Amino acid sequence: MESTDIDLLNKQFAAPGRATFRTGPGGFPILTLANAHGTLEITTYGGHVLSYRPAGQKPTLFISRESTYIPGKPIRGGIPVCWPWFGPSADDPALPMHGFARLMFWSVDAVAAGADQSEVRLGLRDDERTRKFWPHAFELALHVVLGKNLAVELTTRNTGTGPFVLTEALHTYFAVGDIGRVAIEGLEQTPYFDSLTRLPMPAEKAPIAIRSEVDRVYVDTADDCLIRDAALDRRIRVAKRGSRASVVWNPWIEKSKRMPDFGDDEYHGMVCIEAANARDDAIVLAPGQSHTLAQILSVGAGADA
Ligand code: BG6
Repeated sequence: MESTDIDLLNKQFAAPGRATFRTGPGGFPILTLANAHGTLEITTYGGHVLSYRPAGQKPTLFISRESTYIPGKPIRGGIPVCWPWFGPSADDPALPMHGFARLMFWSVDAVAAGADQSEVRLGLRDDERTRKFWPHAFELALHVVLGKNLAVELTTRNTGTGPFVLTEALHTYFAVGDIGRVAIEGLEQTPYFDSLTRLPMPAEKAPIAIRSEVDRVYVDTADDCLIRDAALDRRIRVAKRGSRASVVWNPWIEKSKRMPDFGDDEYHGMVCIEAANARDDAIVLAPGQSHTLAQILSVGAGADA
């Protein structure tokens, strides 16, 4: 059901105390899921996870205080769904950066709210709006499972008569206590494409420390990343499936100032680690085929454990 009618959504899907829709900023419908393991908020605009908080922990995701909530503009923070292209469109640079899925209202297809596990399924299908951006027939499904960890799965199915090429990302913004005291492990042995210089770079052979603008596509890796956050004394494991590209991004000082929907000082408190299919890892889907990209987040106390 594609709907911005909160009463209808609650009538069909709500479970008191565990799954409730409300109207959020900009009138966007927001579903809150709560269970023994934590809480999560997701809006039907963009199929966008806005917040995730494991029980007893601080928020896992960053969301900018300057974010807009306006149809046609992306939300800054949480987990944007970049689809069906990552970055600028290869066909037409005038098309929206990171595709159109994050700019549309999705349908709510199912909500299941248990004491230990909560799930929501949102969907987006081709119609006259999507065909203005992309001429293909598709079904896109986002399945979010809140349990001991958070699993976000994005499945694309080609429902048309010809093949299409897909690039995509779950563009997750992690909240960190102080970017200067964060180490990202897991990509030490992986070469990357530097999106700032447009040059391929060799593996760094060391955990990533962010001390300036970083915008990288790590290539040919299926490995987990681990964010060690000394200031918050916690670690976040970022696992993935269906992806051989990982993007790491922090805008640092100058780019933060250029982004109108991002506070000038907010780069201190975030880093994006994205499960992607991008560059050489573009996916070709024949008619009837599907592909699932997933990211699984697990949060633990102690930066060094
Ligand atoms: C990252 C890109 O994935 O997304 C960056 O690598 C980009 O180049 C960033 O700046 C944010 O993109 P947007 O469109 O959400 O501002």
